[in-house]
Amino acid sequence: MPTLVLVGVQWGDEGKGKITDFLARQADLIVRYNGGNNAGHTVVVAGQQFKLHLVPSGILYPDKMCIIGNGVVVDPEVLIGELDLLESRGVSTSNLRISSRAHVILPYHRRLDFCEEEAKGENRIGTTCRGIGPAYTDKVARTGIRMAEFVDEEDFRACLARNIAQKNRLFQGVFGVAGMDLEEILPSYLNYSRRLKPLVVDAGPLINRAIDEGKKVLFEGAQGTLLDVDHGTYPYVTSSSPVAAGACVGAGVGPTRIDRVMGVAKAYVTRVGGGPFPTELKDATGEYMRSRGGEYGTTTGRPRRCGWFDAVAGRYAVQVNSLDYLAITKLDVLTGLHTLRLCTAYRYKGEVITEFPASLKVLEACEPVYEEMPGWQEDITRARSYEDLPANARRYIERIEELLGVPAVILGVGPGREETIIRREVF
Ligand code: GDP
Ligand code: IMO
Ligand code: MG
Repeated sequence: MPTLVLVGVQWGDEGKGKITDFLARQADLIVRYNGGNNAGHTVVVAGQQFKLHLVPSGILYPDKMCIIGNGVVVDPEVLIGELDLLESRGVSTSNLRISSRAHVILPYHRRLDFCEEEAKGENRIGTTCRGIGPAYTDKVARTGIRMAEFVDEEDFRACLARNIAQKNRLFQGVFGVAGMDLEEILPSYLNYSRRLKPLVVDAGPLINRAIDEGKKVLFEGAQGTLLDVDHGTYPYVTSSSPVAAGACVGAGVGPTRIDRVMGVAKAYVTRVGGGPFPTELKDATGEYMRSRGGEYGTTTGRPRRCGWFDAVAGRYAVQVNSLDYLAITKLDVLTGLHTLRLCTAYRYKGEVITEFPASLKVLEACEPVYEEMPGWQEDITRARSYEDLPANARRYIERIEELLGVPAVILGVGPGREETIIRREVF
């Protein structure tokens, strides 16, 4: 299939980076369509680990074109740091392009993110404090600065001066903190702007042309369905649209150009930051998942909350994204557990519900209804075909497929590119 959207099924960190890198082998173009450097996508190749925040996870192949789409918010300082780091490790970034319609994260966005979180106190979202929410707020408020303006010195000066004056009124008047000085910010950002200018293109036509020519385009989502600003556990969400439809808006292609959608899910669930999480485990089993799975944030280093696989949330993600396929990662992390649990429904005020509720009050009061399955003790990290897996691991996967109604075509048994089982080639 020529175009495939890869989307997170849960609350992010499902292993999208690894699966994107794996599928990118067959792709011509890899496009990031949402989020910013709140994302942390890890790719492990030949024992070398790469943590990507803004650059698409196809960059490790020298012949693939990688695009940061218009739906992404770009922190120029972070992007340049990422490009320099990749180059210093021998990875060419010459095939990267940035949409001229992508918005820019500026220092006042980062400070605002921090101030807003502080002001929320106990109700803080637990954002990554990278300025993501405030940058999207400016985009929607029509005061943002896009790459197109950023790389035009005259435009950038004028927009920045206007925005700093406006943000300073907020900093001083509302948050009681010092304002920012235009002259302190401008010189370094003009340097960033000059550095990035050659990479900035009108990406929409480029992507559409590639599709016209029958090239294979892989759309790489960041975050996950339950962090989507419309469909997630609002307000404990991010400020963009990680769902599959976000690929159209965030890359500039129409919905009929998307052939297939693949959801990436962990064999269990994790979440970073605040918000409800019905199957969360605050016990030794949760700790087992955290330590075996290395469940610490790629971006902030925070310990991730861990819990059992939630098929109610999973089915919701199938519906919101119209998933055709699943990639189930980190199956190896569950090795050694005697009994596994799968959440098949919620119990709310004595009633069994199977739909993922919109109300957080309801979701917080939901208790998971579990089905138990026997685990496996064998090391599965060397399994390369489905038949190599122990029968109980296969049963677990097949039960998830049954509950979600979607085939699991890729399975992850370790972080490395080769630690992957392909059950069906779909791209
Ligand atoms: P992303 O944000 O969805 O790209 O996921 P992250 O990179 O933030 O987190 C996933 C973590 O799990 C990374 O450290 C990956 O290297 C690792 N990982 C991915 N797939 C597997 C797998 O199948 N098994 C194991 N053990 N680790 C995996
Ligand atoms: P990847 O792409 C996991 C979470 C934050 C916080 C909420 C809002 O690696 O899967 P934000 O900074 O976006 O305003 O924070 O969203 N969050 C993520 N959690 N993986 C991510 O990205 C995330 N990006 C944001 O922890 O709860
Ligand atoms: Mg991540």
